[in-house]
Amino acid sequence: MINIALPKGRLGEKVYGLFEKAGYEFEGVREAGRRLVFMNEELDMRCFWVKPFDVPVYVERGVADIGAAGKDILMEKNPDVYELLDLNVGKCRMSVAGLEYGDRYGNGNRTLRVATEFPNIARDYYSKLGREIDIITLRGSLELAPVLGLSDVIVDIVETGRTLRENNLMVIDTIAELSARLIANKSAFKFKSEKINEIIRRLRLID
Ligand code: PRP
Repeated sequence: MINIALPKGRLGEKVYGLFEKAGYEFEGVREAGRRLVFMNEELDMRCFWVKPFDVPVYVERGVADIGAAGKDILMEKNPDVYELLDLNVGKCRMSVAGLEYGDRYGNGNRTLRVATEFPNIARDYYSKLGREIDIITLRGSLELAPVLGLSDVIVDIVETGRTLRENNLMVIDTIAELSARLIANKSAFKFKSEKINEIIRRLRLID
């Protein structure tokens, strides 16, 4: 059997749409309910919704053979999995942003305060710049941090840029282009290679 971890939420809906188009349907996924696990007996496949940040955990530990995870989460957690395919959905950017009229690079004399959900990505970025930072880890609504003076800048996902604009923030730098990626457990990829390669082949055929 092939087990698939899908990220619960907006991105997961898009990814599931790709699986559907590729011919992998699971009864009940589209129904509004609280079920988390869905089976397709005929294909001998099972999929389940997990929190986006947890997809690599399920895949790394082999409970899921494959999964779909945002590149942001892969960059942040650096899991020991194979990244097989760019699914080309959920396209956005990891950016540094700050107040339009604020001291966007921070006062040179003071450690730059960076609010983020991605402390490793932020640390990496600023260590390459040789800049000392104070990381403030938050869970969502990052844009509030510079507006209320909790941080000088944020390292966050920007899709349309609307949230930044509506909060008088602007992009200072782009760290990476992001999208959803198909990942696989390393040993599953070896022992279930035929089935996994067939999934990749079919997903690649979608326009
Ligand atoms: C993400 C991100 C931004 C927003 C960017 O948040 O953290 O806040 O989307 O999108 P935009 O550029 O199109 O405005 P999400 O909606 O996933 O919720 P969160 O704040 O809880 O992370």
